[in-house]
Amino acid sequence: MAKILGGIATSHIPAIGVAMDKGLEQTPYWKDFFDAYPPVREWLYAQEPDIAVIFYNDHGLEFFHDRKPTFAIGAAAQYENADEGWGIAEIPPVTGETELSWHIVNQLIEDEFDITVCQEMKVDHGLTVPLTLMWPGHKYGHIKVIPIAINCERHPMPKPSRCFDFGKAIGDAIRSYSGNQKVVIFGTGGLSHQLDGQRAGFINKPFDLYCMDKIVNEPEALTKFTNFDLVEQAGSQGVELNMWLAMRGALQGTLTELHRSYHLPISNTGAGLQLLATSDAAMLI
Ligand code: DHB
Ligand code: FE
Repeated sequence: MAKILGGIATSHIPAIGVAMDKGLEQTPYWKDFFDAYPPVREWLYAQEPDIAVIFYNDHGLEFFHDRKPTFAIGAAAQYENADEGWGIAEIPPVTGETELSWHIVNQLIEDEFDITVCQEMKVDHGLTVPLTLMWPGHKYGHIKVIPIAINCERHPMPKPSRCFDFGKAIGDAIRSYSGNQKVVIFGTGGLSHQLDGQRAGFINKPFDLYCMDKIVNEPEALTKFTNFDLVEQAGSQGVELNMWLAMRGALQGTLTELHRSYHLPISNTGAGLQLLATSDAAMLI
């Protein structure tokens, strides 16, 4: 049986990738933010996962507003970067995983989640920045990735409870897979931010900390929110919390919170990092 080691939630702000490419990690603006990551990397390296299932949102690079799947999953051998801003960086492609991916697809359709299956798909900072944060220098080629995009850009968007249930169905599918792979789940994006409009720059630290508290053992408190609540409380892009909820939905049993940090602002965002390990991987190295 495939095993889920735990979940990592992290913001995916594009400026993080640029800072890493320019070697700015220890400059005053960035130091506290980047200093939070080594403990999570150490856990990850010690666990030696084979596969990363990554819940992220496509910011309009692969799926623009004219064709926006609610839920899309990759089933390709490789994914190219197609990010916007600061020019398209020349970064290595992401390695795909097709067998578990198709197993998840089959299980999801049985579970009445009618996802879009992508045998070709470009990925953006929502996926590549967290990978680079975990494997600096873009050294993520060894890990097989299953990208799962949740619509957070164009209304109507799936609501928090649906994203949580979607993650749960994916966790069940992984646990029912006959292989012996070790899987880590990522939820990327958030926390509170609003990039445009009258409230541009809006960040809500108390709300972000509330979400980080509740997601550990009481995620149901968060699934009661509507997307309208999230926009009001966390800004229009704060809906990216839904990827954290999908990650949490995939985890089962007793969880140990091995790491948490929150730093604000990074660019326009309350930047959060959280590591929740299942009982199979609850030791911080
Ligand atoms: C920022 C944050 C995001 O989540 C994103 O997708 C793009 C930009 C930001 O804070 O700049
Ligand atoms: Fe984003």
